[in-house]
Amino acid sequence: DTMTLLIFLAAYLIGSIPTALLVGKYAFQIDIRDHGSNNPGATNTLRVLGKRAAIVVLLADIGKGALAAALPFLLQSDADQLMVGLVAVAGHCFPVFAGFRGGKAIATTAGVLLVSNIWMFLIAYISFIAVIYATKYVFYGSLSVGASLLVYSLFIPGHKHELIFSIFLLFLIFLHRSNIKNFIDKKEPKINDKRLKDD
Ligand code: G3P
Repeated sequence: DTMTLLIFLAAYLIGSIPTALLVGKYAFQIDIRDHGSNNPGATNTLRVLGKRAAIVVLLADIGKGALAAALPFLLQSDADQLMVGLVAVAGHCFPVFAGFRGGKAIATTAGVLLVSNIWMFLIAYISFIAVIYATKYVFYGSLSVGASLLVYSLFIPGHKHELIFSIFLLFLIFLHRSNIKNFIDKKEPKINDKRLKDD
């Protein structure tokens, strides 16, 4: 129905708000996409602009996902929260407000799961933090988000939307192709590396 359509559209638009770009542009007068990994996300904001800016971007991107996934609840629609959230994640990755050059989905996905499925949130983001702690590479943690969710949804029978969500997140591998290439070329920075190849 019309309400469902509007909710999906609103989710895409919310996901499309380019928070890292806005923080870089208005607080630091730079385009984050010209620096570091060129990715408009919290990790690259930490690298290029420091902790405070990164926390703002992280919370704003988590908030985007959470707000989008909460729309069906707020508007009393029976649209599936995970599916609405998935559209917000797509908006974050391919934002209409930023030439379709967006981020890598990790913070926005966290917000979506926080609101729509606490078990998926815990599994994915405990794994995210543990893997980063062990390896010091954020992209490894990010890939573990996708991997852990896929394993989880394959083991809960009959949960169609959980599985669809996780299968879509296989796209994380594609989004992290530059990180994988840099890792192979021994150029990928660890989380505590301040300097990058092009800085
Ligand atoms: O989620 C973002 C992270 O996985 C990679 O970010 O800037 O290192 O490419 P970045």
